[in-house]
This record gives sequence, structure tokens and C-alpha cells, in this order.
Amino acid sequence: MHLVLVHVFLAHGSGEMLGKDQPVRLQLIETKQGMSPLKGVMMELEDGAFPLLESVKGTSDLEEGFGDANFSLLVGAMPRKQGMERSDLLSANAAIFADQGKALSATAAPGSRVLIVGNPANTNALVAAANAPDMLPEQFMAMTRLDQSRAEGMIAEKAGVDVKDVDRVIIWGNHSATQYPDVSHARIGGRWAKDVIKDDKWLTGDFVSKVQKRGAEVIAARGASSAASAASAAIDNIRDVHLGSDKWQSIGVLSDGSYGIGGGLWYSVPCACPGLHYTRVKGLPIDAYSAKMMSATEAELVAERDAVRHLLPSSYDAGVPLQKLVALKEAWDANDKARIQEASKSLPAQFQAAVKSALSS
Ligand code: LMR
Repeated sequence: MHLVLVHVFLAHGSGEMLGKDQPVRLQLIETKQGMSPLKGVMMELEDGAFPLLESVKGTSDLEEGFGDANFSLLVGAMPRKQGMERSDLLSANAAIFADQGKALSATAAPGSRVLIVGNPANTNALVAAANAPDMLPEQFMAMTRLDQSRAEGMIAEKAGVDVKDVDRVIIWGNHSATQYPDVSHARIGGRWAKDVIKDDKWLTGDFVSKVQKRGAEVIAARGASSAASAASAAIDNIRDVHLGSDKWQSIGVLSDGSYGIGGGLWYSVPCACPGLHYTRVKGLPIDAYSAKMMSATEAELVAERDAVRHLLPSSYDAGVPLQKLVALKEAWDANDKARIQEASKSLPAQFQAAVKSALSS
């Protein structure tokens, strides 16, 4: 994963991710055995003399690494090798993410954002969030932006247009071979992608399976998981959520019942990015083919969730905090102090503290 990290850090240092006027302090976590290569990465970062890079720290202590972090990228997972199924990674990696969730909860900055890149990303996000009692599920995102970029690239190539002219391609569900890359709402230069491409057989056939299997194709070709494209997608994801974008972005987020998907899964849906946060795009019409594809990837996520149940605290109920957050927001919008206090009572401790300080200022 060092290659992913190097790309991300270079982008960080040069302001591509959080803005050209945002100084950054990097805190890099590695296992004890990985410290020597990490030192090499840190030297390269120093040698880059990035004007925005205030400091770089390396540690193998999770709490030190996540201490006061505003953005955390969880890229460290046992990478999939050729011939390995993603399910083989489940148990090994989910345990790592439970520890990371605990450390984030104890030490990260209030309101921090976490992007899970290490596979199986969606279920790792669920495990990390479930083990972070003082954080909200909304703070955890599983990355499907790489799949979106792949799909947009393929659509642009097929239509013979520039990739910047393609938007509203959606990735539903799991970052895996069951994901559903959906172009029924996509546009090319403002026109419906389906009307431009005029090849429904390809759009529901080869295109879908190519996007689904692209990760495995990269692994087969280079003998290792994608690195540069994964890093680029992580940068795009964080940048668009933080700085805002007029394009939709697919993100694996807590399933809140929209589109009939519940069950506390981290399921990829289209999100709008107005800046500083994301909101789910709801109410899109779903045709029969899409509904079938969306259910298939949901079923895989349900199976993954059930396989890591032992890592979810028994009190964990991912659906509750989101409703509480909505209640808080409504009370806030109504400027009703009594309701704000009531709604914040059952929220994680760091949010109660933030609400209290906001009310008294
Ligand atoms: C990718 O999509 O390139 C990777 O997530 C594939 C993998 O399983 O490592």
C-alpha cells in the first residue's frame, strides 16, 4: 500500500486534496515491521519541500496516529493477491478495522471524516464505525469512487468524448464484483448517456462486468492491487466532499432505508457534495433490471455483515444514530434550544460537548 500512500501524500502536500491554502500535518501509521519503508516515504516527503506540509510523523501506535486527525484514510489492509477471493480477506481485515475504529473514536478530532479504502472496504467501514462509540456513522465512508472513475472512463471511451463530459454514473452497493455500475441516470454533455451510446446490450452486459472485474484485472496484470488509480480516487473523494463539487459522487455510506436498502450496511449510493459534507441523492426512479442488480449486491453485503457479527458490539445499532442526528438537525434549524438539548442527549459524547459549546457561544 505504500504506493497508494505516496500518491495521496504528494497530493496532500501540494494542496490537491484539501485546497491550495490548507496547511497539512501528516500522521502516518505503519506496523512495526513496516517502519523502515515508511521512513523512506517520510524522507521523500521532506525532500519534496511542499509549502503546505507543516509536519510528517510516523508511528505504529493507533491512538497517536489518529490523534486530533480531521481526515483519516484507512488504506492499510492485507492486500488481495491473485487467486484470492475478497471473502478470504474478510476475517483478517475486519479485526484490524475494529481496532482502528476504537482508536479513531478515542482520539480523532470531533467531526472528523474517515475514508475506508482497504478491502473489503464496505464491511471494514461498518466494523470501524460500529467500534467507534463516540463517532457517528456519517463520519465513515467506504470508497467506491474508483469504480465510478473506471465506469466514467469506459463510458467516455465508448461515446468518444472527454471524461469530464460524463456525469451521474452511479455505483450501487459493494466495492466488489457484485457492484452495480448504473448509467440509467448518466449524462454525456447534458444528454442521456443511453441516447448517446445507443447500445443497451453493452450497457447492461460487457460494461457492467468490466467495471465489476476491473480490480481483479489490474491484480492479474500487475500482481498487486491498484495503487495509483486508487490513490487518485481517494483524493477525488475527500476533495469533493470537503471542497464541494457539482457532480454526484458514489460513496459507500450507512444504508438509511432509501431505495429499500436497510440493515446497517455500508452501501454505495449517489451523493451530492455541496461542500464540507455529503447528502444522499434520494428518490431516483429504479427500473426492474437495476432493482435486481441492487438487490444482488445488497445480499453480498448482508452476508459479509453476518460474517463479521462477532466484531460488532452487541449494543450496536447503526440505524439509530442517524435518526438522532436528523432530529438534532431539525431542532437546530428550528432554533429550538430545548429540543436541541433533548436531541443531543443520546448522541456520542464528543457531539454532546460540541452542541453544548455551540449553544453557549
Ligand atoms: C480495486 O478495485 O482495484 C481493488 O480494490 C481490488 C482489490 O480487491 O484489491
